[in-house]
Amino acid sequence: MSRTQDELKRQAAEAALDFIEPNTIIGVGTGSTVNYFIDALATRKHDIEGAVSSSEASTARLKAHGIEVLELNHVADLPVYIDGADEIDAHLRMVKGGGGALTREKIIAAVADKFICIVDNSKVVGRLGAFPIPVEVIPMARSYVAREIVKLGGDPVWRQGITTDNGNVILDVHNFDIVDPVQLEQQLNGIVGVVTNGLFAKRGADIALIAGSNGIEKVT
Ligand code: 5RP
Repeated sequence: MSRTQDELKRQAAEAALDFIEPNTIIGVGTGSTVNYFIDALATRKHDIEGAVSSSEASTARLKAHGIEVLELNHVADLPVYIDGADEIDAHLRMVKGGGGALTREKIIAAVADKFICIVDNSKVVGRLGAFPIPVEVIPMARSYVAREIVKLGGDPVWRQGITTDNGNVILDVHNFDIVDPVQLEQQLNGIVGVVTNGLFAKRGADIALIAGSNGIEKVT
């Protein structure tokens, strides 16, 4: 990653601080952009009640900053969820899961009132799918799911050296021609053995904070 892209990620992450309401619990995603957000959130840690986290990696970083991490099952009210994306389109539909945390990310996104996506402008695309779609799969179903994905027109590749926080494997699906992201999201979820897929189309972001050379663009 270039220094510039890294700097843009930091700017997008810091812009998300404006959406933090005092005395609330914050939903926290996963990835290098979110790592900047966690570092920025540490400056507000005395104003918030704590965080729910989408991965063991984010949990460790939050705790290292002294931010309390709560279990999602104990949290009924989650005003905002802040997370990055691998791709985002003009309708704020996303591809996520490059970091392998897609399932917990999608669960927290479902609970949150508002999903705020923080990205540098290299993540903005006209059409989703150049980035391979991650699919989290129960290990014993891997070959079956891969065969079913081929029938849907994708080329699945087993991500090596990764077991998810939930003990599963990931197939990265290349070459999907994604005309209707919501439909494909549902089709992938319909394959037995799939836990989640990285298309966040049915529940996309509510706000995108996109960092570019001219500053932060807020898209709703
Ligand atoms: C992790 C994700 C991340 O949000 C996505 O991969 C973007 O990561 P980064 O901020 O490092 O570019 O979905 O599962």
